[in-house]
Amino acid sequence: MDQHEILQHRAATKGAAETIHFNNAGSSLPPDIVLDTVIDYLREEALKGGYETEARHTQQLEQVYASIARLINAGTDEVAIVENASTAWHLAFNGIDFKKDDEVITSEMEYVTNLIGFLNIQKLHGIRIKVVPNDAEGNFDLVALEQAISPRTRLLAITHIPSTAGNILPVAEIGRIARSHGILYLLDACQSAGQLPLDVEAIGCDMLSVTGRKYLRAPRGTGFLYVRKEVQDRLKLLFLDGHSIAWVGENDFKVRDNARRFELYEKNRALVLGLGTAIDYALDIGLDKIARRIQQLATQLRTKLKGINGVTVNDHGQHLSGIVTFSVEGITAAAVKAALAEKKINVSVGNAVSTLVYMNRHHLTSVVRSSVHYYNTEEELDSLCAALAAMAS
Ligand SMILES: Cc1ncc(COP(=O)(O)O)c(C=O)c1O
Repeated sequence: MDQHEILQHRAATKGAAETIHFNNAGSSLPPDIVLDTVIDYLREEALKGGYETEARHTQQLEQVYASIARLINAGTDEVAIVENASTAWHLAFNGIDFKKDDEVITSEMEYVTNLIGFLNIQKLHGIRIKVVPNDAEGNFDLVALEQAISPRTRLLAITHIPSTAGNILPVAEIGRIARSHGILYLLDACQSAGQLPLDVEAIGCDMLSVTGRKYLRAPRGTGFLYVRKEVQDRLKLLFLDGHSIAWVGENDFKVRDNARRFELYEKNRALVLGLGTAIDYALDIGLDKIARRIQQLATQLRTKLKGINGVTVNDHGQHLSGIVTFSVEGITAAAVKAALAEKKINVSVGNAVSTLVYMNRHHLTSVVRSSVHYYNTEEELDSLCAALAAMAS
């Protein structure tokens, strides 16, 4: 991505002039076109009526499924639009008909929603949870995964990019292992959607959960679930309404023949259109290009941070993402965040709970999380590092 293009994206993002935003793993600054899409739709609803507005926008609303499908190389009949990644993940995970002693294999990088999901089903049905630890260099251990699989393994549940650490998991290699053993594979792509190219065929996952507000630059309150066509009938449905079904009689019903069976009728149509607009914006740029730019900035940031006395970069592993985590000696992550906010620099605090197994293993209670996006600049990195150097000295 050249400088001209970066400036164009910044000019098309009002927030970029307001603040130095390194909380893209929390929620990104949306492009103005996303904001306008949402506001225009809400205004039209208020003036013309919600159902009447929807009727005028059915094609655009339908198009959002096609955009999601393109983003992840899925079929439009494999996509359900929901409000956030946690809903998407639970719809998939809790749809599995777990029996006592079934095993779920996960990594130490798993997100808190998912960890709670495992523990809940463990309490209810007596499943076993196996955590594959990272190797000494902080990489996901594929050999250990192979060794952990047994005839009782029902599911591999993996987080592509963890919430409070910098590494990227080898999701396609994990997918090959899942396929070779015929095990279901659920991928949490919450932090990778919009940051990396995603291809459910190449990854080989059966289910994938995503949120809109992070690297996709969509509005808050948006997300989606992918469920492979052949897997849809194998999942129980947790919620049903007139939208999830194809037919209902007084004594029976038939569910829809696509992933919209996992949705409910009522949702915020303005936000759905905002999600579609954000995805189209990312697709227009190209996910490869976005990923390269994020890599470039994150690598620079880690190098600069390592040069500051009193700052420790906490990221481990061979493949690192745009989420850069670090600690400042003698200053809590919350105090670092507060001091930077005074300089209009947004970072966030990654608390242990978000990625509990990893954080406990590394004796971390919290880290500063500075997550870069393609619209950030080298000058912004310098401002962050100058502020940190002054703080740490
Ligand atoms: C890796 C990961 N998975 C899942 C989630 C949950 O996303 P949501 O808040 O949209 O449910 C997050 C949120 O931070 C996350 O970082």
